[in-house]
Amino acid sequence: MRNRAVSKRFVKMDTCNTTQWDLPLSVVFTGHVDHGKSSVLGRLLAECEDLAPEKLEKLRLYCQRNGKLFEYAFLTDSLRQERAQGITIDCARIPFRLANRAFQLIDAPGHIEFLKNMVTGAANAQAAFLVIDAAEGIQENSRRHGKMLSLLGLKQVVVLVNKMDTVAYDQAVFESIQHTFAPFLAKVGITARAVIPLSAREGDNFISLSSKMPWYHGPCLREVLLGFESPASLAEQALRFPLQDIYKFSADKSQRRLYVGTLQSGELQTGDTLTFYPSRKQATVKSVEHFPQSRTRATAGEAAAITLTPELFLERGEIATHAESVPLSSGTRVEATLFWLSKEPLTQSKSYQLKLGTASVEARVEEICDVRDASTLRGKDCAIVGQNDIAQIRLHFKQTLAFDLDVRFPESQRFVLVDGYRVAGGGLLTDKLSFAPAELDDQLSQRKMKWIGSGISHSERVKRLKQTPTLLLLTGPQRSGRKALAQSVERALFERGQWPTYLGMGSVVYGLGADLSSEEGNRLEHLRRLGEASHLLLGTGLIVLVSALNITDTEKQWLEKIISPARLTTVWMGSSSPTLTADLRLDGKTSDQVQTVLSYLENEKVIPTYGN
Ligand code: GTP
Ligand code: MG
Repeated sequence: MRNRAVSKRFVKMDTCNTTQWDLPLSVVFTGHVDHGKSSVLGRLLAECEDLAPEKLEKLRLYCQRNGKLFEYAFLTDSLRQERAQGITIDCARIPFRLANRAFQLIDAPGHIEFLKNMVTGAANAQAAFLVIDAAEGIQENSRRHGKMLSLLGLKQVVVLVNKMDTVAYDQAVFESIQHTFAPFLAKVGITARAVIPLSAREGDNFISLSSKMPWYHGPCLREVLLGFESPASLAEQALRFPLQDIYKFSADKSQRRLYVGTLQSGELQTGDTLTFYPSRKQATVKSVEHFPQSRTRATAGEAAAITLTPELFLERGEIATHAESVPLSSGTRVEATLFWLSKEPLTQSKSYQLKLGTASVEARVEEICDVRDASTLRGKDCAIVGQNDIAQIRLHFKQTLAFDLDVRFPESQRFVLVDGYRVAGGGLLTDKLSFAPAELDDQLSQRKMKWIGSGISHSERVKRLKQTPTLLLLTGPQRSGRKALAQSVERALFERGQWPTYLGMGSVVYGLGADLSSEEGNRLEHLRRLGEASHLLLGTGLIVLVSALNITDTEKQWLEKIISPARLTTVWMGSSSPTLTADLRLDGKTSDQVQTVLSYLENEKVIPTYGN
């Protein structure tokens, strides 16, 4: 009987015009076993006019006939076995309308299943109720679930202190739970929007405030439910169009390339300029193909095949967005929260396939930062991530991956790790990490292998330009005059007939490094790019002058490797103790700094002695 009631609700949802443009707000009920999650949900359905009274009556009759006490939870528990055992064994999702708004209420069976459903995309809650039994008080699971909600990035959380009837509606009991739990939630990064005393059995504080708790002046359950903010409709969000395939279409003579995929969010139409990540290639939508005739636009949830001008060479897994829209992140190193499902522990030496949307990249675990037992959330030995553990890890990909770090785009933030053919774990990408020094050697040998040399040899260039290609790096603390000296030396070299060029750090950070923020965490990657840009310029035979803040010995060694075989000359400026072993030290007392540098370069045979 109850199964029927639930399936009718689904039908009803269809007839309520709940489409992707009228997205239901998903609200999950979490909390310790038996604290009344299903009862609160069931009572909420019963209290709202949405539920036909005869359905409730049928349920009462069913319970009577089967010798059971009537339970509101039965309304929610959608599986027959569940009623037999009295526990929730699967995620019941119930479409529901209240005050002309669409909701999807999720009765979470246990946090592990819920977490699994969230990371694999089976469930996607935007708000949560955390149910606590007034008599039993805060239990382990109450805390775990709080932690889990924060892990999943749920910000709209309301605490429900249920079964107030069992504690004679005692204000002191309620307040003691409220005062203990709020600080815990704050610690895991959640501010509860409200803490409501309830009785699912008696229906207190559901749709209006109950006279049994005159001391409570906060909102009732209906009010907070209607207060949750709905997600922006998918079509209104920024475009995310992951490429599933590229077809070369030669039926007509045009040999068109069709770029095919399903729009996760946003809209696209002919004439739009798209940027594809991670390649950052740009093109304009020439047509949106649709059988039997072409259209001009496609929207969230639709499969689309588009043609582009110019035609780009792209691969499956690239994600398109509008050029001027919320950009995606891309990189080869990330930090992630991982939920491990496989019986075989996560292994650092092994490579896994990471799948995110339509992209698939080879991934290795670089570091296991934190491991917790998913049921106790207690920290564990960091070396092993076993089945049902939650870990904070750093991953390193073989190819660059495009992704989002924003909960608004869950499909390009959540990933699964595949071991062979099996999904071994899943999680959320939480941070992008800059380039790792450990990867440098690998990357440089790759570059060497793929390098396409110039027809003009190094020695021919040296002979023609009369100079040895050198990176002259001026470093030191702030306001030590690095930039001014670099530019003066550049000018002096030029006047002497040499071929110098000045490469400012700002030109790299806001040009080649425009996809990275200028924050300190990206310094190594910015330096790497500075090194690569210098390497190209040095290859043409130039003397490259660069000024950078407080370069260290390690960073110097890095740059040396990147620009090799060209040479690196370092100049430390300022009177403070240097952060590196520099070839030359200059401070305010050095009389002619430009001449000192030029003499050094002459001695080192970078440039000929003046006059020769
Ligand atoms: P699981 O899904 O198994 O984790 O349990 P649950 O959290 O969904 O709890 P459920 O709604 O099944 O309720 C557990 C028991 O508590 C049932 O026997 C309910 O009748 C009882 N219960 C729920 N709410 C109330 C309440 O407000 N007052 C009283 N007295 N009992 C309640
Ligand atoms: Mg339940």
